[in-house]
Amino acid sequence: MLRLALRTRNLWVTRVPIVRTLNRLPLQKPVSSHYIRRYTHTWGSENIHYGSFPERTHNCGALNRKETGKSVTLCGWVPAVRSISNDLLFIPLRDAYGTTQLVFRSETCSNAEAANTLRSKINSLTPESVVCIQGVVRERPEGMRNKDLASGDIEVELQEVMCLNTAATNLPFLPGKQKLPKEEVRMKHRYLDLRRPELQQNIRLRSKVASIIRNYLTENQFVEVETPVLFKSTPEGAREYVVPTRNHGQFYALPQSPQQHKQMLMAAGIDRYYQIARCFRDEDLRADRQPEFTQIDLEMSFIKASDIQNIIEGMVTEIWKNTLNIQLDKSRFPHMTYQHAMSKYGSDKPDVRFGMHIHDISKHLPSASEDGVLECMVVKKGANLKTAEIRSVAQEYESQNGDLSKLNSVKINENNIGSWLEKCNLSKRSSDVATAQNSLNNELEIEQGDLVYIHKRSKYLYGGNTPLGKVRLQMSKLLQDASLLHIDPSDYKFLWVESFPLFTPDEAGLRTWQATHHPFTAPFPEDLALLESDPSKVRGQHYDLVLNGMEIGGGSIRIHYPEMQRFIFDKVLELQPHEYQRFDHLLEALAGGCPPHGGIALGFDRLMSIICGTPSIRDVIAFPKAGGGKDLVVNSPSELTTTQLAEYGLQLTKK
Ligand code: AMO
Repeated sequence: MLRLALRTRNLWVTRVPIVRTLNRLPLQKPVSSHYIRRYTHTWGSENIHYGSFPERTHNCGALNRKETGKSVTLCGWVPAVRSISNDLLFIPLRDAYGTTQLVFRSETCSNAEAANTLRSKINSLTPESVVCIQGVVRERPEGMRNKDLASGDIEVELQEVMCLNTAATNLPFLPGKQKLPKEEVRMKHRYLDLRRPELQQNIRLRSKVASIIRNYLTENQFVEVETPVLFKSTPEGAREYVVPTRNHGQFYALPQSPQQHKQMLMAAGIDRYYQIARCFRDEDLRADRQPEFTQIDLEMSFIKASDIQNIIEGMVTEIWKNTLNIQLDKSRFPHMTYQHAMSKYGSDKPDVRFGMHIHDISKHLPSASEDGVLECMVVKKGANLKTAEIRSVAQEYESQNGDLSKLNSVKINENNIGSWLEKCNLSKRSSDVATAQNSLNNELEIEQGDLVYIHKRSKYLYGGNTPLGKVRLQMSKLLQDASLLHIDPSDYKFLWVESFPLFTPDEAGLRTWQATHHPFTAPFPEDLALLESDPSKVRGQHYDLVLNGMEIGGGSIRIHYPEMQRFIFDKVLELQPHEYQRFDHLLEALAGGCPPHGGIALGFDRLMSIICGTPSIRDVIAFPKAGGGKDLVVNSPSELTTTQLAEYGLQLTKK
């Protein structure tokens, strides 16, 4: 097999005699000739050790002063050789566990010939080549120690270097370099990028957190169950990925989440289920969104919302303790209603690490608030922002909402502090303004240097943000960039957001309502009568877990009566019979003696990106997708041949 592989690359490998220098090494154990067979390319001058190599005695993060004088064997990557002189070379050898400084000193070699041979081997190493080295641990001279390195008190004096694989000289980038190429290049060559210590740490921490989660849930009587990945197309919410089969006209769909299966597992009497589950949604890429992502998914029977929240709080507390060394307690998980979050922060996932609250000032200017709510937001120190920055926020508002006349902003200074409200474009009576001006200044503690926004929104709150809520987030970013607002990255602010509306107007206009989360969420018992009369007022038993303004989880108490589930599919969501029949399996399971149940799913990638402090979830996923759902490593999605298409009974039409 190997010969064939090499032959196709037009590379030939031949055996040459054993390297004798290696036998002269003062090793702890004599190196068997088995280890030191050397193969030389006939096409080049460099030497590569093919086949067995000495077993490593330590990893590159393990050595310290205690090992001084020991002969060691290490394996790893050579980022670069630092040449001080012909007689002194340094190599920071790197592996998964750390970096160890290797040093070549010609004076420590047995004779000039040995020194020349070793030096030329070292000099022939290209960056990122893989080596196995042998040498002796030496304590570094005082003043040469590196406090940033676990092995910074020692260095390994080289006696032999075996090149196990030479890295190509035209690598697209070197992972050790400070200046990295753009993300697309790094994503394409992910195996190189993953060598960077930052990404290595993220991937390792992810594995540790997964193990904490498994232990915690197992201790709490949860059963890990795998559910199918080849699922079925059901109108659950997000756009799906479908999988053609050789049974023409028959398709699987990949699951958006294991939602329906976990509910069926409750009907099956599993009682407490969990899974670290892959989910697939054909959605646009964002920093916190991937088409293929992972959920910590769980479901419980015979419970109420607070039972699920307690389990999640316990799990998060365990993770925070064992990764960030932070002890959380119950007080760190406050609750807030959707209505409060939307009106006070303009978001259903408020970032409560900073104030900048939105105030309803309708009562101060009743004439200007007809048919809506008049809001005021005070941006402390906002007057220091550049006019162009404030204008760019207004432009963004205009591009999203069309009508800029509803958004007013005023920089407060000593001249306008008593009259700024007059400048706002409001349909108001001047008598209102005079009284409102003073009250607002007092109540909202408005002062010089503030930037004040006045905005009119509609009374009915739905969706994830209000227009002023988006301005609030943009302002926080601008203030942080200008060092006018400091948010401590280690200040973790959790929040349960609850009492969401069960239904949201369907903006696509296909039907009147869509499920705010998914169609299986149970309504509040006290709102049942409104299901028929006014669905907009029905609250769902849904809860989101928010952390630092990011939704890291969502779940609910489910509908467990088939009649109610069918009513919602049919009468409220106006699904066609052929659409809701796609949920027959679930309706049958509910009808077959299904206990009351509920659950939640945390976004594992989002959770990890917060723990690792990364700007994007791509940094905590080994092989993430790029824009358009592309996998740049393997270059997929990719075309099928006409023969393959025919096998699946597929025909392509021109775009
Ligand atoms: P939901 O759709 O809210 O609920 O998803 C749960 C959590 O998964 C994360 N998440 C994502 N992470 C990365 N990329 C994405 N495209 C993405 N979409 C969602 C979020 C979110 O809070 N079945 C229900 C859960 C339940 O009701 O039990 C569900 O999937 O952090």
